[in-house]
Amino acid sequence: MKNFPILTLLAGLMIVACKPASPQDRLMANEAKISEIIAQMTLEEKVNMLHSKTNMSSAGVERLGIADVHYADGPFGIREEGVPNGFQSAGWTVDSATYFPTGSALAATWSEELAYKYGTGMGKEARLRGKDVILGPAINIQRLPTGGRTYEYLSEDPILSAALAYKYTLGVQDQGTAVCIKHFAVNNQETNRGSVDARVDERTLREIYLKPFERAVVEGGAMSVMPAYNRVNGDYCSENEHLLNEILRGEWGFKGMTVSDWGGTHSTMGAMLHGLNVQMTGSTYLGPAVIDSIKTGALTEAQVDEKVRQILRVRFAIEPVPDDVANQTITSQPESQRIAREVAEKSIVLLKNEKGILPIKSNVKKIAVIGQNAVLKTQSGGVGAGVKALYEITPLQGIQTRAGKDIEVKYAPGYKNFPGRRWGPAPAEPDPLVATAIDEPADPALMAEAVELAKNADLVIFFGGTNKSIETEGSDRANIKLPCGQEELVQALYVANPNLVTVLISGGPTDLQVLEPVSPAILEGWWNGMEGGTALAEVLFGDIAPSGKLPFTFPVKLEDSPAYAMGNFPNSTREMDLFTALYRPDMTPAERQALNARRPIPVSEYTERFYVGYRWFDTSNIKPMYAFGHGLSYVTFNYGEMKAKASGKKITATFTLTNEGDMDADEVVQLYVHREGSAVEWPEKELKAFSRVSLKAGESRQVTLEIPLEDMRYWDEAKNGWADEHCQLQLLLGAASDDIRQSAEVSI
Ligand code: BGC
Repeated sequence: MKNFPILTLLAGLMIVACKPASPQDRLMANEAKISEIIAQMTLEEKVNMLHSKTNMSSAGVERLGIADVHYADGPFGIREEGVPNGFQSAGWTVDSATYFPTGSALAATWSEELAYKYGTGMGKEARLRGKDVILGPAINIQRLPTGGRTYEYLSEDPILSAALAYKYTLGVQDQGTAVCIKHFAVNNQETNRGSVDARVDERTLREIYLKPFERAVVEGGAMSVMPAYNRVNGDYCSENEHLLNEILRGEWGFKGMTVSDWGGTHSTMGAMLHGLNVQMTGSTYLGPAVIDSIKTGALTEAQVDEKVRQILRVRFAIEPVPDDVANQTITSQPESQRIAREVAEKSIVLLKNEKGILPIKSNVKKIAVIGQNAVLKTQSGGVGAGVKALYEITPLQGIQTRAGKDIEVKYAPGYKNFPGRRWGPAPAEPDPLVATAIDEPADPALMAEAVELAKNADLVIFFGGTNKSIETEGSDRANIKLPCGQEELVQALYVANPNLVTVLISGGPTDLQVLEPVSPAILEGWWNGMEGGTALAEVLFGDIAPSGKLPFTFPVKLEDSPAYAMGNFPNSTREMDLFTALYRPDMTPAERQALNARRPIPVSEYTERFYVGYRWFDTSNIKPMYAFGHGLSYVTFNYGEMKAKASGKKITATFTLTNEGDMDADEVVQLYVHREGSAVEWPEKELKAFSRVSLKAGESRQVTLEIPLEDMRYWDEAKNGWADEHCQLQLLLGAASDDIRQSAEVSI
C-alpha cells in the first residue's frame, strides 16, 4: 500500500507518455520563444499581422526578424505571381507551374497514395516560388451537380473526400509548406456565396460537411484554415463561434491560424471574438479598428496576443524561403509533371463501352476528332483557381502523338465554344467558333464539316462537355445540359458513323439523356492537368486500362438530385449579392455595395439533410445515369468471397481480387455499409472503406479493408455528441455503389 502513490504516478506518467502526439502538436514547439517575441512587440506591430500586407501576403515584423507570410493559390497548381495589390499577372516567366488534374479528377483516382504525391508536388513548387501557405486543398462536399466549384472540390462523399484531403495535406506539409484547407464550411454554392446563410442541421454538418476538414486538421495536422464566404446557421463563417472556436479549436484541437477568404471578413468584433486570425484582404476590420476597440475597452491586448501567437506558430513551423533562394528556377519541375501524369492516367473514367469499341483496335487507320473541347486548354479560367502551366497537352495533341504516322487523325471543331464572360472590349468581328449564348443551337456549317469528316473515318471521337466559363467560381450552372448544340451534333455524328466514342471534358456531371443512346463508349476525361492529353491517349489506345471511378453521381436529370428534388435549390437564393454582382459591368462598386446592403439575407435550406449524392439516390430508389463509384476497365475483376469480422476498434473485411484480363489493371474496391433493423435513421448505404489495387494480368491478391468503428458513429442531436449504435450490419463489397459483388454480416 505504501507504494500506491508512486505506482499511481508511474501509471499516470505512462498514460501521458503513451498518449499519441496529435499532428497539431507540431505547431506547439516554439511557445516560449513566441511569448518572448510577443513581449517585445508593440500593439501596432501585432495588429499589423492580422490583415493583408499585399494581395497574397500578411506581415511579419521586420524589426524582430519575423518574415511575412506568403500565400499562393492552389488547389491544382501554384498560381502565377500577381501584382502586389491585385490578381493581375506580374508578368513573370519563372512562375510557370505544373498544372495538376483538378479536384474532381484527383478524387476519381480514389487513391490516397496519389493524393499524397499530388500534395508533395504542390508543396515543393510552393517552396520554389517562396510561398509559405497554399490556399488549398479545396475540400467541400459536392452538394449540387451545378455547383460552380465542383471541379475544384473532391467528392460528394465525406469518407472519400476526407481520405484524400488528409493525404493531400500530409503531402504538402511534409515539404515544409503549410496548407490552408478551404472553404470552411458548407460552401456548396456560388450563387450569393458572399452572403447566403446555409442552414444545416448538426448531424448533417458533422457527418457530411465537416468530415473532410476534421480529418485534415486532426490527422493531417493542417496548419491553417480558410473560413468560407457564406454564413452557416446565421453567422458568417469568418466569425462563426460554433465552427471556429467550439469545433475547430475546441473539439479538434486546432492550434494554427485562420485566414478569411478574400473579402470574406465582415466585422471587427465578430472576427476578433469568434475565431479569425487574418483578414484577407484589406484592413478595414482587423486593422486600426482593433486598436480603437482596445482603447475603448471593447477588446483587450491579450486577445490580440492570442491571435498573434496562433499566427506565429505557423510562421515558426514553416521555414521562410529567403528572397535570393526563391524563384531561381522555373516552378514546374519534371518530378511534379510525372505526378500530374500519373494522376491523370488513373482518373479517367470509362462510363460505358459497348461491343468493346475501346481500346482503339489495330484496324482503325482514320480517326475523326470532333469538338472544340479536344483543343481547349483548361489550365486557366474559372476565376481564382487557375494555373499558368509550363505546357499543356490537349486531348488532340495527345491523340496525334500516340497515333503516329500510321494513323490519320483529322480534327473538326464541330460546335461553337461558349467563353461566357469576357473581360475587355468585345471583338470587332464575331468569331465563327464562339457562341453568344450557352444554349445557342448547333451551327449548321460546323456540323456539316464534322459530319463529313465522321463519314470518312474508321472511328469518331467526339469531345463534349463544358469549359471553365460554364463551370466557374462566382456562379453556378443554371442546368447541366451540354452546351452549344452538342446534343444535336453528336446525334448527327452517330448517324454518319456509329463507331463513335464520346469523351466528356468537364469538372462536374452533365445531362447525358440525349448523348448516351448515341455513344457506344463514353469516357469522363476531366480537366486533367498539363499531361491530360497524354493520359487520355494512353487510355484510348489501350496502353493502360482505365481505372477512375466517379467521385459523384451523374443524375439522369438535374431534378433527380437531392437539393433540387427537395426544392432547396435554386430558390430565393438566386438573387444577386456582392460577389455575383462583381460580374455586372453595368454597376459601379458603390452601386454593388448599395445593392448588397439593402437586400434580405439569402437562405439555403439543407432539408435533404445527409441524403447527399448517392445516399439520396439509393434511399429514394432513383436510378442515376451513372452511379457514384462507377467506372469500367478493359479487364474484368473477380471478387472472391468476403470474410468479415468486428473486433477491437475495427471491422475487417478480407477477400481475394483477381484480374481476369490479359493486361495489367487497377481496380478500386469499395466497401459500403447497410444497417439492419436500426433505430436510428440512416441512408440505404454509405461508403466506409476503399482501396485502389494494382494487379498484373491474371494476378490474384488477398485484399483487406478496414473500417474504424469510430467511423460507424452518428451524431446524436439529443446528446449533442457522437454515439455508437449497436446493430446488425450488412457489409457490401463492390466495384461501384450500384455494382455490389459480395456481402457479409457483422454486428457491432
Ligand atoms: C476564392 C479562394 C481563393 C481566394 C484567393 C477567393 O475568391 O474563393 O478560394 O483562394 O479568392 O485567390
